[in-house]
Amino acid sequence: MVNPLDPKSLNDCAENQSDSISRLNFERWSKKGAVDAYRKWTDLYAPEQVIFDKLRDNLRGWDVLDIGVGGGRTTHHLHDRCGSYIGIDYSFEMVKQVRSRFKNCDLRQEDARNLSKFKTNSFDLVIFSFNGIDYVGHEDRVSIFFEIQRVLKPGGHFVFSSHNRDFSGVAQFGWRSYLSTDSVRIFAKKVLNLIPSILDHYRLKDYETQEDEYALINDDDSCFITYYISPTAQISQLERLGFGKTEAYSLDGSLCHQHVPRDDDWMIYYVTQKID
Ligand SMILES: C[S@@+](CC[C@H](N)C(=O)[O-])C[C@H]1O[C@@H](n2cnc3c(N)ncnc32)[C@H](O)[C@@H]1O
Repeated sequence: MVNPLDPKSLNDCAENQSDSISRLNFERWSKKGAVDAYRKWTDLYAPEQVIFDKLRDNLRGWDVLDIGVGGGRTTHHLHDRCGSYIGIDYSFEMVKQVRSRFKNCDLRQEDARNLSKFKTNSFDLVIFSFNGIDYVGHEDRVSIFFEIQRVLKPGGHFVFSSHNRDFSGVAQFGWRSYLSTDSVRIFAKKVLNLIPSILDHYRLKDYETQEDEYALINDDDSCFITYYISPTAQISQLERLGFGKTEAYSLDGSLCHQHVPRDDDWMIYYVTQKID
């Protein structure tokens, strides 16, 4: 596995497709535009609110690992409400800016694909919020699930979200996002950026793939390769990797009935557990 935090491994290892996708997205999460955008957000999404409310009574005594903290949106809601809190992100720029906001918090630059700095069975709750897990290739996603399972205590919870492949408007790169914006300033910015993003999109085409279980797509005007999976496939994937019972939540915070999302559920939240 190529470790983007270790320049030696970038030179030494032959890169496979999953490595390339992870490296490409890693570079993009370190850009100023991404860091600036995520710094501003503090509100929880409805499913996060519902899930945190359900866990609230236990949270006080729990050791929590928050992966992919980005701008610290979830740090804001968790760091002083649990037994212990560690936030990690593999983008040093993200970690730097979140450290400047939460001075007494344990925030580290670490890659979810390699959690060897953390002991086996050490966390009651691991979080990877707002689709952070969707920015690695498939093999790396599997490594992340195994690492999370290892560091969770038996019975520990894992909360994360992922892009929904069953969403009726699964985004493909195109004109949709240009036409749908209602801010003149954002529209003008996008028009200016049109040629570079079309060129970028053609460069990223080689990384796109549609598999039975999942798809990797350069969606809308984003500069990332993003993992999409349906709730049914995500739940089977977790079962196959040894996790226990999983619940899927719609964007409005309701439980997905028989794992069937609502039409506008472009992302789904999942709560799963390490088997006791
Ligand atoms: C979509 S942002 C979400 C940020 C934040 N969790 C939130 O909800 O606002 C995804 C974050 O995950 C981080 N990330 C992606 N892959 C990661 C990995 N393998 N290890 C650690 N962080 C990762 C990115 O750097 C980025 O900050």
